[in-house]
Amino acid sequence: MNRRILVTSALPYANGPIHLGHLVEYLQTDIWVRFQKLRGHRCIYICADDTHGTAITIRARHEGRTEEDLIAQVKEEHLADFGGFGVAFDNYGSTNSEENRVVCHEIWQALRDADMVVERDVEQLYDVEKETFLADRFVRGTCPNCSAKNQPGDNCGNCGETYTPADLIDPVSTLSGTTPEIRSAKHLFVQIEKLHGFLDGWTQSGTLPQESANYLKGYFLNEPLKDWDISRPGPYFGFEIPDSPGNYWYVWFDAPIGYIGSTKQWCDLHRENFDDWWRSADTEIHHFIGKDIQYFHTLFWPAMLKTAGFTLPTKVHIHGFLTVDGAKMSKSTGTFVRASKYLEHLDPSYLRYYYASKLNSRVEDLDLNLEEFVSRVNSDLVGKVVNLASRSAKFVAETGLSESYPEDGGLFEKFAAAGDGIAASYEAGDFNKAMRAILDLADQANPFVESNAPWELRKEPEKAQQLQDVCTVALNLFRQLAIYLSPVLPDLAEKAGVLLNEPLTHWDQAKTPLTGTPVAKFQHMLQRVDPKKVEAMIEESREEAPDTGATANWDDDDAALKAEPIADEITIDDFAKVDLRVARVIAANEVPEARKLIQLTLSLGGDERRNVFAGLKAAYEPADLVGRLVVMVANLAPRKMKFGVSEGMVIASGPGGEDIYLLSPDGGAKPGQRVH
Ligand code: MSP
Ligand code: ZN
Repeated sequence: MNRRILVTSALPYANGPIHLGHLVEYLQTDIWVRFQKLRGHRCIYICADDTHGTAITIRARHEGRTEEDLIAQVKEEHLADFGGFGVAFDNYGSTNSEENRVVCHEIWQALRDADMVVERDVEQLYDVEKETFLADRFVRGTCPNCSAKNQPGDNCGNCGETYTPADLIDPVSTLSGTTPEIRSAKHLFVQIEKLHGFLDGWTQSGTLPQESANYLKGYFLNEPLKDWDISRPGPYFGFEIPDSPGNYWYVWFDAPIGYIGSTKQWCDLHRENFDDWWRSADTEIHHFIGKDIQYFHTLFWPAMLKTAGFTLPTKVHIHGFLTVDGAKMSKSTGTFVRASKYLEHLDPSYLRYYYASKLNSRVEDLDLNLEEFVSRVNSDLVGKVVNLASRSAKFVAETGLSESYPEDGGLFEKFAAAGDGIAASYEAGDFNKAMRAILDLADQANPFVESNAPWELRKEPEKAQQLQDVCTVALNLFRQLAIYLSPVLPDLAEKAGVLLNEPLTHWDQAKTPLTGTPVAKFQHMLQRVDPKKVEAMIEESREEAPDTGATANWDDDDAALKAEPIADEITIDDFAKVDLRVARVIAANEVPEARKLIQLTLSLGGDERRNVFAGLKAAYEPADLVGRLVVMVANLAPRKMKFGVSEGMVIASGPGGEDIYLLSPDGGAKPGQRVH
C-alpha cells in the first residue's frame, strides 16, 4: 500500500546555531523520511525556523540590527548546516511568513468560535514613558541575592540566581532608562481543559511513546488542565492578535502552526492540494521532537488542531537529549560542538551512522562517546561494509559482473529475506536494531570474500571465471547492504550506484541480483575516522568560561549559622549509618501540580536507579539537572508521596525556595561511590 506521509522536525530557534544535540533530531528524522521515500511512499519533510519571541529581539538589538535581518542570516546558516549533514527538507520555511500568519488567524478564529479563549489580568512591569509592558529581558537592576548591578530581569549573570523582574532592586527599563512600575495587563488564555476528554483519549491511543503517555496520565490528565497564557503585550516580535490590538501571540502559539504554514508554502510551490496534507484522513502526520517540548506537542498542539479541524498527528516520536562522554554538552570542555565546526573536521556520514547505531524508539538520552564513535565507524563502516567493495571491485573493472548470478551458498537470498525485518526496525524508529541486523549480514559477507580470496585468484589466469563470479557475489552483497544503509548513508548509496552503473532508488532493488553490468573504476567511498580530527574539533570548540566579574570576597557573614545552629553531637557510628552515594541525574521532570518538586531519576551506576522527589523547582530547571552528579542518601526508607514513592534524598544546602544549592563531587567521581 502506498502511504502519504507528512513528517516534521521541531523548528529550531532562530537565535542560535545548530549543534550536535539538535542533530540527534534532524538526522533521526531525515533517516526516517529517506527510508519512507526509498520504500516508495509519498513522503514530505517539512521544517522552518522558529523566529519569534524576546530572545530574538534581544540579540538583534545587541547586534544593532532588525529582527528580520537577524533571522534571515540565521536561516542561511541553519540551511548550510543542515545541507552539510545531508538533511533534506522538502520545505524549510519561517514562522515569520505570510502563510503562517494566515493559518494562525484561522486557528485563532476557531478557538474563539469554540469559546475557548478567556481574558485575565497578569501582573507585569510597565514602562510609563514608553507606555509599554516589559518582557523580563527588557528590565535590568540590582540582583536581590548578590547585589551585582545591572543584571537582567530573569536571572543574575553574576551569581546565577533566578527571580522575577519585580524582585530586582532599583529596576530600570532598558527601553527608556526609567523606573518601571508594576501594572496588571490583560492576557489571553486558551482553556484546553475543555478538551480534557479528547486529550486523554488521544494521548493514550498509541500516538506517543508509552513512557510519555504514562507520564501525561500520571501527572496531567488526572487534574484539570491549566489554562494556557498565549498572549504577550507589545512590543513583541511576533504576530499581532487580530481581535486584541497591542497584544501578540506568544511564540509557542505560532511555532507549531509553522508546521502548517511551511506545508502551505510547499503546496503553493508545487501545486499540491493543501487539504490533502492537513485535512485528510488518508495522510499520516509524524512529528519528531525532543523530550523537553513534549507538553506543547501532546496537549496544546492537538487541542488547537482538533478545534480548527486539522488532521491530528498519527505519531509524535520523542527522543532524549545528547550527552557527550556521559555529560551534558559543555562549552568549557569543548563538547558543545556546532554543526559547522564538526563539518570543518569530519565527514557527516560518520555521525549519521553513529547516531543511527544508537537511536531507538524510547525516550532515552543518547551518549556520544568519542572513543566509541571512532572505533564503531572504523570497524563497522570502513572495515566491514566499504571493505567488501574495495577488495573486489578492482578485479572486475574490465569484465563487469558475471552474466548470470553465481552460486553463493544462499547468501544473496538470505540478505534479501532480511529486508523485511530491517524495514520494520526502521519504521519503528529502532535504528539501532536495523544497524545491528545490517552489520550482522556484513559479518557473513566478509568470510565469503576472505575464503575465496579474489586477490589470489587473479594470479591464475585459468581461474578468471571464478574470479569474476566471486567478485560478482561480493559486489551484490555490498549492494544489498548499501541499499539497506541508504537512509542513513545516502552518499555511500550514491557511490555504490555509480560503481555498479545503476542508481539505488528503491528498497526492493535488494531483492534482485545485478548481473552483466559494467563496473566503474573504484573510487574511495569513506575514509577511516582520524582520531586527531576529533580531538581538533573538541579543542576548537572549547570556550573560556565567561568572566563573571566576581571578585574574591572571603569575609562571609554568620547569617546562615545564626539561622540554623549546629546540631547535637553524634558519634562516627551514627554518621556511618547514613549511606551517602554519588549519583547521576539521568532524568528530571516537572511535577506540575506540586509547587516545589522535581522528579529525579538517579543512577547509581549499572542498572541501579532511584526515583526521588526533590524540592528544587524554584531553584533549578529540570533540563539543567540532567547529566550532573549529585550526592544522595541511598539508604533512606522509601516514602510514599502524593505523586509516587520517593526512594532517597539528594543533598543540598540553603534555606529553601530559590536558595537551594545542590552539592556535587569534584570531577572524577563515579556514580555509586560512597561518600565518607
Ligand atoms: N523552537 C522550539 C521548537 C518549536 S517546534 C514547534 C525549540 N527549538 S530548539 O532549537 O531549542 O530545539 C529544536 C529541537 O532540537 C527540539 O526538539 C529539541 O528537543 C532538540 N534539541 C535541542 N538540543 C538538544 C540536545 N542537546 N539533545 C537532543 N535534542 C535537542 O525547542
Ligand atoms: Zn546575583
